[in-house]
Amino acid sequence: MNKSSIKIPFVNLNLQHQPIQIQLEQAIQTVVSQGDFILGQAVADFEREFAAASGAKYGIGVASGTDAIALGLQACNIGSGDEVLLPVNTFIATLIGVLQAGAKPIFVDCDRQTALIDLAAAAKLVTPKTKAIIPVHLYGQMVSPRQLLDFAQTYNLLIFEDAAQAHLAAREGYFAGSVGIAAAFSFYPSKNLGGFGDGGMLLTRDPDIAQKMVRLRNYGAVQKYFHVEMGTNSRLDTLQAAVLLEKLPYLPKWNCDRNHIAKQYDRELLPLASFGITPIENHSDTGHVYHLYVIKIDDSCTFTRQQIQDKLAELGIQTGIHYPIPCHLQPAFTNLGYQAGDFPQAEALAKQILSLPMYPGLSSSEITEIVSAIASILSSSQQLLCL
Ligand SMILES: Cc1ncc(COP(=O)(O)O)c(C=O)c1O
Repeated sequence: MNKSSIKIPFVNLNLQHQPIQIQLEQAIQTVVSQGDFILGQAVADFEREFAAASGAKYGIGVASGTDAIALGLQACNIGSGDEVLLPVNTFIATLIGVLQAGAKPIFVDCDRQTALIDLAAAAKLVTPKTKAIIPVHLYGQMVSPRQLLDFAQTYNLLIFEDAAQAHLAAREGYFAGSVGIAAAFSFYPSKNLGGFGDGGMLLTRDPDIAQKMVRLRNYGAVQKYFHVEMGTNSRLDTLQAAVLLEKLPYLPKWNCDRNHIAKQYDRELLPLASFGITPIENHSDTGHVYHLYVIKIDDSCTFTRQQIQDKLAELGIQTGIHYPIPCHLQPAFTNLGYQAGDFPQAEALAKQILSLPMYPGLSSSEITEIVSAIASILSSSQQLLCL
C-alpha cells in the first residue's frame, strides 16, 4: 500500500502528539540544556512514575522491551538449565528474550477465543526443570491473574509477565506488571505508551531483582569502572524517558479512547458474525487496553483473510496481522525441534486474524467506514451468489 493511497492508516501517532507537541519539545529541550543524556533525571523520574502507576515498586528503564525480557529473566536468575513456558503466538521478542537469557523455551498453545496462553495446555508441559511461565498480555488483554497465581503456586513456578502490549491494563484487581515476580514493558513508538524511538522497562517489587537489573543494563557495574558481573549497555535513553514522562499522564485517557473505539467496533461488527467474522473474545471484567483490535475471519467466511485485507487496502484502509507465523514455525528457530501441527489453535488463529486500525483519535465515522467496508466486501459475495 503506498502512502498516498492510505485513507485510514493502521496507526496514526500524529493525532496523539500534535495536541502536546509544545510540551514534548520543551521536555526534549530541557534534556538538551541539562546535558544529562545518559541515565539523566528524566530516566529516574519516569521509572518512579511508571512503576507507581502500574502498582510496582521498582522500575528499571532499558533500551527496549526485548532487553527488558532478556535481562529481566537474568535478573530473576532464570537461565541456563531452566525451562520457561511461553505462548507460541507472541511477538518473536518474547522467544528471543528467553533464548538470550540462556533458558530453554517451551511453547504453549493458546485459547482459540482469546488468543491468550492456554494454562491447561501449559500444565501438561511442566517438568522438574520448569522454572517460570511468561504470560503475554496479548493485544492489551491480561491473562487472568487469579488463574496465573494458582497455576504458579500449584507448580511452584515464577511468573514473569510480558506486558509489552498492556500498559495500565488491569484485571481482577491487578495491573499488568504487578502479578508476577517481574514484568517487561516496551515503549516502542506505536505501543499504548510509546517514545520517539525504542525503550523498555522491567517492573518488580523485589529489591534484589531491581538492583541486579540496574547492574545488568550498565555493564554489570556497581560503580564506575567496577564490574561485578557480566552486563551490557542497555539503558533507557534520557530523551526517550523525557518524552515518556510527558506522555504518561495522558495514558489513562488514551486507553479509555481505545476502549470506546473497541466497543464501537464490537457493536458494529455484531451483524457480521453470521458471515464468519467475530472479534477476539474479551473478558467482561478486564481492563483491556486494546493495544490491538483483532478480528477472526472464520473458515466459513466466503472471503479469505488475504482477500479481505487486499480489498480493504484498495479502499485505503490499512490493516495488520499479529502475528502471521507462530514462533515455532519461524525459519530461524527450526533448531528448537517443533513442527507444523504442534500447536493447532495458534496455527489456525494465525491464518484467521486481522488487526483493524486502533489508535486514540480514530473517529467514530472512520470506525463505521471500516466496518461498512468489510460489510460491503462480504455482501458483494452475497450478490455474486444471487446472480
Ligand atoms: C509481546 C511483545 N513482547 C516483546 C516486545 C519487544 O519490545 P521491543 O520492540 O521494545 O523490543 C514486543 C514489542 O513489539 C511485544 O509486542
